[in-house]
Amino acid sequence: MEERINELLGRLTLEEKVALTTGRDYWTTRPVERLGIPSIWLSDGPHGVRKIRSSDDMGLGDAVPATCFPTASCMASSWDRSLIAAIGKAIAAECRALGVQVLLGPGINIKRTPLGGRNFEYFSEDPYLTAELAIAFVNAVQEEGIGTSLKHYACNNQEFERMTISAEVDMRTLHEIYLYAFERVVKEARPWTVMAAYNRINGVPATENSYLLTTVLKNEWGYEGCVISDWTAVNDKEKALLAGLDLEMPGKGGSGDMAVLRLVKEGRIAESVIDEAVRRILRLVLQAEQHQRPAVSFDAALQAAHHALARRAAAEGAVLLKNEHHLLPLDRNSLSSLAVIGRFAREPRYQGAGSSQVTPSRVDTAYDEIKKLLGNQCELLYAPGYGSGSEVDENLIAEATAAAKQAAVAVVFAGLPPEWEWEGFDRDQLALPAAHNRLIEAVCAVQPHTVVYLANGSPVTMPWLDQAEAVIEGWLGGQAAGGAAADLLFGLVNPSGKLAETLPRRLEDTPAYLNFPGEADSVRYGEGLFVGYRYYDRKKIAPLFPFGFGLSYTSFEYSDLQCDRKGLLKGIGCRCG
Ligand code: BGC
Repeated sequence: MEERINELLGRLTLEEKVALTTGRDYWTTRPVERLGIPSIWLSDGPHGVRKIRSSDDMGLGDAVPATCFPTASCMASSWDRSLIAAIGKAIAAECRALGVQVLLGPGINIKRTPLGGRNFEYFSEDPYLTAELAIAFVNAVQEEGIGTSLKHYACNNQEFERMTISAEVDMRTLHEIYLYAFERVVKEARPWTVMAAYNRINGVPATENSYLLTTVLKNEWGYEGCVISDWTAVNDKEKALLAGLDLEMPGKGGSGDMAVLRLVKEGRIAESVIDEAVRRILRLVLQAEQHQRPAVSFDAALQAAHHALARRAAAEGAVLLKNEHHLLPLDRNSLSSLAVIGRFAREPRYQGAGSSQVTPSRVDTAYDEIKKLLGNQCELLYAPGYGSGSEVDENLIAEATAAAKQAAVAVVFAGLPPEWEWEGFDRDQLALPAAHNRLIEAVCAVQPHTVVYLANGSPVTMPWLDQAEAVIEGWLGGQAAGGAAADLLFGLVNPSGKLAETLPRRLEDTPAYLNFPGEADSVRYGEGLFVGYRYYDRKKIAPLFPFGFGLSYTSFEYSDLQCDRKGLLKGIGCRCG
């Protein structure tokens, strides 16, 4: 391939080379037909394919149907590399079916604050866990011949002032917390592209940051892939090219080419800089060409298989937070009546909004799936309990408590409404909408056997925790989350998810509380290394639920531990009697 790249570089005109450094339109790169250089298609990402019908349309909310897998918060709680690899393979197959060569994901930024507006798209507060999961994902997608885009490089930890904010972070923290996963994935999985973020890092925009793009990524880590910009993140093309950005996305209809051409002719940008960017762009498109496989069809059989995988993933990612008196799993054979409460049971919240929003191939609801499982042997009651907004509606609550009282057990489906978690802005509080909290409290007051089943992409407070007998954090579980809820509630699946991030008791306890979200385009990462559980441990602050927490229906007992000092020193652990 390198020979072919050299040959092409020799045959391309300067004009053609400059043109190649900007996309053709929203989603594709420029072809050079006379030399047989193809155009490739890049699509979001990360938890399903968002293939827009037309390549020159941003098309929010207008993608062709694909499987909507659980978002990263949920996937990460599985702590399961093989599950994440299976999802990666499935998404890659859909990319092939839909004519996409590069998937814009995974998102691997560290969750610095639970308020981060895109936290649902990111895995964890922990760099090691993030790296392990992302390596599994990238390897799986790329083994199927589809490229990935590791994003958003770097320190993309908030949405407030998202195009201009500067993350002011010290070097040790930058490398050990915020760059660690990028480094590991780059070195161990070689993503075809890395996406430079919107924000600035220590004053320098990510797309113009020669320290991050050239010194660290390309020179120290030996990255040979293509550095692309986040969409419209390039402000100054000259600075971006000189800093090591290769491909600007999306295309601007050629308007920037003349300016770059002039800069090269004036000697302000050496032609070798353009050649280096083009070399990497050619590597990307030729790689895509080389890995082309026979097209798959996203037919009914594949849709069903991927939906089943999405259901398994949603169940694996859900975390059982509380289960007093072994209320769960519910016994299908003996349960006489069940009250399913909460609008989300029939109008599920299963993914976040913004560039990651997938048009699902189908959507299961918890209500229908529970009904299917129970058949006619158990009376099923339903009450929405809250409306589409966050205001308390006493009539809906009265109807819901009446249903709850009448049944043997109540399950309340609650969480964050879509407008509360959206790319482009951060949350301003940890609380659920008042309507949801009030409903849960009211149901718990009349029904001692109440399960709360949550749908949210990032941590929420639980003022009713003592009253609810059981709680499951379902995260944003994707299009099959409803089926997963039924599987978990009735014990067809044993919950085994563990939190990939700390659930705090209150906002004031969170690591970035004093510094987030910053002001006047600057945010100081004053907590330094003490991100996530590192902070709670050091400050001895008890969280609501710690990182790694998660119950299951099985009980474990350790007894007669014998520790062998010599063995421990050698790294082999204890023996349990
Ligand atoms: C987002 C990226 C996304 C791109 C293309 C940007 O606004 O930050 O994550 O890949 O749009 O949709």
